[in-house]
Amino acid sequence: MWRGIQGMAELPEGKAANSSVTAKRLGVYLAPYWRNFVGIIFLSIIGAITQAGAPILIGMTVDEAIGTKNTTLLWQYMVVLLVFYVVGAISSRLTFQYMGQVGQRTIAQMRSELFGHLQKLSLRFFDKNPAGDLMSRIVNDIDVITQLLGQGLVMIIGNLFTLVGIVIAMLLLDWRLSIASFLLIPVLFIMTQLFATSARRAFRKTRESIGDVSSDIQEEIAGVKVAQAFTRTDVNRERFSQRNAANRDANVSATAITAAFGPLVDVLAALGIAIVAGYGGYLVLQDQVTPGIVVAFLTYVGFFFRPIQAMSQFYTTAQSALAAAERTFSLIDHPVDMPELPTQTPVTHVNGAVTFEHVWFRYDARQGQSGDADWVLRDVSLQVQPGEMIALVGPTGSGKTSFVSLIPRLYDVTQGSVAIDGVNVTDYQLTPLRHQMSMVLQETFLFSDSVKENIRYGKLDASDDDVIAAATDANAHELIMSLPQGYDTILGAKGVALSQGQRQLIGIARAILAKPNILILDEATSSVDTRTEVLIQQALERLLRGRTSFVIAHRLSTIRGADRIVVLDHGKVMEIGSHDQLMAAGGMYADLYQRQFASLVTPADPTAA
Ligand SMILES: Nc1ncnc2c1ncn2[C@@H]1O[C@H](COP(=O)(O)OP(=O)(O)OP(=O)(O)O)[C@@H](O)[C@H]1O
Ligand SMILES: [Mg+2]
Repeated sequence: MWRGIQGMAELPEGKAANSSVTAKRLGVYLAPYWRNFVGIIFLSIIGAITQAGAPILIGMTVDEAIGTKNTTLLWQYMVVLLVFYVVGAISSRLTFQYMGQVGQRTIAQMRSELFGHLQKLSLRFFDKNPAGDLMSRIVNDIDVITQLLGQGLVMIIGNLFTLVGIVIAMLLLDWRLSIASFLLIPVLFIMTQLFATSARRAFRKTRESIGDVSSDIQEEIAGVKVAQAFTRTDVNRERFSQRNAANRDANVSATAITAAFGPLVDVLAALGIAIVAGYGGYLVLQDQVTPGIVVAFLTYVGFFFRPIQAMSQFYTTAQSALAAAERTFSLIDHPVDMPELPTQTPVTHVNGAVTFEHVWFRYDARQGQSGDADWVLRDVSLQVQPGEMIALVGPTGSGKTSFVSLIPRLYDVTQGSVAIDGVNVTDYQLTPLRHQMSMVLQETFLFSDSVKENIRYGKLDASDDDVIAAATDANAHELIMSLPQGYDTILGAKGVALSQGQRQLIGIARAILAKPNILILDEATSSVDTRTEVLIQQALERLLRGRTSFVIAHRLSTIRGADRIVVLDHGKVMEIGSHDQLMAAGGMYADLYQRQFASLVTPADPTAA
């Protein structure tokens, strides 16, 4: 019964900035279930009648059956009393069941709206809101809302009716004893509020410290390889045990506070019973009331502390839930920065002419720091003919990945424009536009699904034969056949782990299968051995014929065949030309190439460069 205060105190702080708007919006979610609410109210009334009626029955038993030593009547009353309690229990069970259905359906609907919306948000949003934070926030908020919709609401409805029923019954029985019983209500109310405040403070500490503990665990598991390689395990264990101890201490003091609350309320209840017993006894001696009425009041006093306490806590629960709902709604309402507009072209085929015109690009500047240094691409212009193979080279961090991510609009340019077939990419509908291209990234992400489905990821209507053909072109067929269930082997987090190079092969098969008109390969073959790379390149050459491609590679030997090579440095285009032209020019590319070539031929000879 006193567990409530702990549950409530564990909820996050914070009040909804606009409670009534949020409450109304939650109401919209609940509205379709009005039939359930009618049922809940009906059942709550039945519950209230049984709760308020039982003590009267007990009183009548005392006065009419026990007082007159009437055994038959005693039995009859006992049976009726039993029926009261059983009906009460059934109606309480049903209300929770009804409300549980409403709560879970509402939550499921909010969750799927949230998921659907998150899918529409751009990478800029996810850069600002790291996956881990986002996930814990969503899970936590949804949990808090579930507490309100699943239990809080039905408890408050039930308790309200019970309280009204009890108060009416008491006043009907005897107003003097009623007032005596009500004396302690303000005390209980104030006490609950005081306890809630200090318990909330204590539980905030436990929450913060458990946050530290779990982020420590999360980071240690994610970074376990590095930790072990650098033998940081002892240092980490020490840090962890400190945080763990802090959490333990916070929990111990929080428990001490909640542990004190229960007994104090018991004392209060005992006081109430003493008052009613003393004053009631006096009234009986004065022949003003019957002993049965006093017995009924004694039962009420033991009863009605619970609903009052629950109601004084409800406010806090509701506030937390509204705050959580507001955060959830604000995510659902988060503006889509790349919306699909009716004016956009639903492109079905592109020739693959790509034009960058005076493109300036930066990721969202950190607060107050948007200086000149933030530019990742500076005034980049490039005209690519359909079918051309463009290689991008340049030092680490020079902006190659950023450059290619503007083509499928993973990000939008800050200034300037990117156009495909002469049309600004923002004038195409996003999804069909992205269907025109494939990307193999530096890191290939495999989903927890079969090899087959992972390859089919970008072209859901491809047949199994197509999948196998693409895998063969990517030189991945042999690897796949060596897996336990071949093409049906489950990969990803819950399946077979592949090496980075093996993952890249699957990624390339995925891209080949989609047969895009524009292909982007970002270090796509950086983790496979040279022999495999040559095989993949032959396959890609076949695939790339007639298709526009952008290839990023640090291993310059792999891009010698490109039509044009673009050299980037600090976001600026330094040189453009074919391999032979750039070598002849003797600039940055020639320099890079000669160094790589020299280190490959005579790695031990420092004079070779
Ligand atoms: N999501 C991001 N948010 C903010 N800044 C980013 C983001 N991604 C990259 N940057 C910054 O943009 C710059 C260019 O990064 P980019 O990934 O384009 O380089 P790159 O040429 O592909 O490097 P590499 O050869 O190492 O892959 C870097 O300075 C990097 O710090
Ligand atoms: Mg990169």
